[in-house]
Amino acid sequence: MIQIVDRSMLVPNIHLLTLEAPLVASKIQPGHFVIIKANEKGERIPLTVADWNREKGTVSCAFMQVGRSTRKLAALKMGDEVETFVGPLGKAIDINRFGTVACVGGCYGIGSIYPVARAIKSAGNRVVSLIEARSRFLLYWEEKIRQVSDALIVSTSDGSKGEKGHNSDRLREMLGEGQSIDLVVAIGCTFMMYAVSEATRSFGVKTIVSLNPIMVDGTGMCGACRVEVGGKTKFACVDGPDFDGHEVDWGLVLARRKAYIRHETVSEEAS
Ligand SMILES: Cc1cc2nc3c(=O)[nH]c(=O)nc-3n(C[C@H](O)[C@H](O)[C@H](O)COP(=O)(O)OP(=O)(O)OC[C@H]3O[C@@H](n4cnc5c(N)ncnc54)[C@H](O)[C@@H]3O)c2cc1C
Ligand code: FES
Repeated sequence: MIQIVDRSMLVPNIHLLTLEAPLVASKIQPGHFVIIKANEKGERIPLTVADWNREKGTVSCAFMQVGRSTRKLAALKMGDEVETFVGPLGKAIDINRFGTVACVGGCYGIGSIYPVARAIKSAGNRVVSLIEARSRFLLYWEEKIRQVSDALIVSTSDGSKGEKGHNSDRLREMLGEGQSIDLVVAIGCTFMMYAVSEATRSFGVKTIVSLNPIMVDGTGMCGACRVEVGGKTKFACVDGPDFDGHEVDWGLVLARRKAYIRHETVSEEAS
């Protein structure tokens, strides 16, 4: 059993769990994900890591409460234990000297982009971080992300903080003005990653997205996480979750994520 050593609600509906998992903490790298199961009868769900502390042996994940399993996780308190916490899973993100890198996050991805921005900055790159939320009260970790970035650009859909609109609007403006960006890395909801990929496509700026299809085993055996990238079938859990956003078949990703929506609704209503 893995113990929760800290937990907080970052903003309404987005929570941060910190778990004591020394083995996972000793190996984790930016871009990896874990699979967590809230209790014995719970569902195994994948979450990207948002932070870790190798000395203390802890790993933190930011998650959005969207259905039954994330509601069970959100109900856990400090000192509670989870049944399963497996990782690191997936491939770590490639950290190199790229030049200027835009690190882009939205909803739970604001948490997940933090360790990516930190590692990319430590590798000697110029980091411009872009985060978005529907409104200012849904923004979190601005200072934390600012500290690992050369610049931070905030967007809100309602214009209550930063620029009005979305990360994709900012990228389109920056690239349209001729600003040089060598790489974009985006993590968050599927539509945001799709919009960011479309914004950078015509400028030919490589855009890495962290795909979040439905997963079951997370080790390449069940096929649940099948996606199509560059016309080839890939399993996001072992071949990704990071892929070139310009090569992803977004229609398939969006359709497969909705495949069990009726069952998810029934499950949520029954609980
Ligand atoms: C590699 C990866 C990393 C992820 N990282 C994060 C993260 O850091 N924070 C976060 O909030 N969310 C993350 N997700 C999404 C998260 O796993 C789902 O939101 C969660 O499983 C929903 O479960 P639920 O029972 O609460 O909701 P449900 O009502 O069951 O589902 C709501 C929606 O979530 C998606 N979903 C459902 N079950 C799964 C599943 N087993 N695997 C993946 N998606 C599912 C479906 O699109 C579904 O329509 C990640 C997904 C993947 C694949
Ligand atoms: S989750 Fe089963 S193959 Fe990827």
